[in-house]
Amino acid sequence: MSVEWSEAEQAAGWSLPARFFYDESIFQQERLRIFFRSWHLVGHVNELRTPGDFVTHDIFEQSVIVTKTKEGEIRAFHNACQHRGNRLIDAPRGHTPAITCAYHAWTYALDGRLRGAPRTECLKDFDKSRHGLKPVRVEVFASFVFVNLDPNAQSVAEMAPGAQAQMRQYLPDLDRLTLIEQVDVPVPANWKVIQENSIEGYHFDYSGPVHKQLVKLIDFDGYRLEAHDKYWTYVGPPRRDVTHAYGLPLRDARWQTDWFFNIGLWPNATIYAFPYSDVVGTFIMNPTGPETSSLRFGYYGVEGRSVPDVTRACIRWMNEELGPEDIRLNISNQKGLRSMGFEKGRYLIGDELNNRSEHLVRHFHRLCHDAIRS
Ligand code: FES
Ligand SMILES: [Fe+2]
Repeated sequence: MSVEWSEAEQAAGWSLPARFFYDESIFQQERLRIFFRSWHLVGHVNELRTPGDFVTHDIFEQSVIVTKTKEGEIRAFHNACQHRGNRLIDAPRGHTPAITCAYHAWTYALDGRLRGAPRTECLKDFDKSRHGLKPVRVEVFASFVFVNLDPNAQSVAEMAPGAQAQMRQYLPDLDRLTLIEQVDVPVPANWKVIQENSIEGYHFDYSGPVHKQLVKLIDFDGYRLEAHDKYWTYVGPPRRDVTHAYGLPLRDARWQTDWFFNIGLWPNATIYAFPYSDVVGTFIMNPTGPETSSLRFGYYGVEGRSVPDVTRACIRWMNEELGPEDIRLNISNQKGLRSMGFEKGRYLIGDELNNRSEHLVRHFHRLCHDAIRS
């Protein structure tokens, strides 16, 4: 079976060959060449508000600790003790005055410096300053915190010029968000299958009743999907006749935007707002194997503001209706990609069908293909 995807095939609209969605060696290349070199969204700055707050984030077997230091800085480290390598923190988040290893009690300050190491005073020439935690790149972009295992990676802002301005246009409360809920959902599908599904509108009319509800909330004719190299947006303007959303009247409701706004950052993070919902969502496709993923849904409200009923209804609708409708498609798509009877197909790409065009799918597949073949 072919694992080539030539320039000519790409230009002619032939899709990325099916093997890219289940082959173990391609998956290992993605691990090294995409995920170990790219930015990973770990949370919002407000999850690291107070010195001592930490979150941990896994990128496959690699675990990263992100801390807020006494000086108020955000720092990130590999989650490995510098004595004999013990993993330091298992909890996904918490608060601690210092990081103490559970094995022999080496203790690190929140900025990674080794503070205490019992009985090492017996060692000749033991220099604590040479045994601090190994740092990891960390950046704040549009008030979200990102880490990258590649010390030489370009910054998020360099990778996604113009992205922050678009986020601020649609998400006015970006700086004041607070985590309401985080849900991890295992999905038996390749991570790219899940991404593809979220970056095309072709399936909205055909794939189930919940998608049709979404189409009724926006002016679908005006839905635009735009590629900007390492980020992409898909945005639907409001319909002016909407009076109800997610089963509730809009009267007295409050929202971030009445648009359907989504921005995808290479490779696997989406930040979005559903219309008439006072919540900013994050949607992260974490691969766990060639044919398995873990989807992380984050829901962020605005600090100091109660969550409106329409917003709660929206979150429930996402978790229990729209999400499952898409996940069923992801699972059946993965099964079909495994068929001996499918190798590649034709993307539906055309300027005149922007709202239904699959150009973002090709754009994303090209980024993946280029990274794997680099
Ligand atoms: S491995 Fe951490 S103190 Fe020994
Ligand atoms: Fe969908």
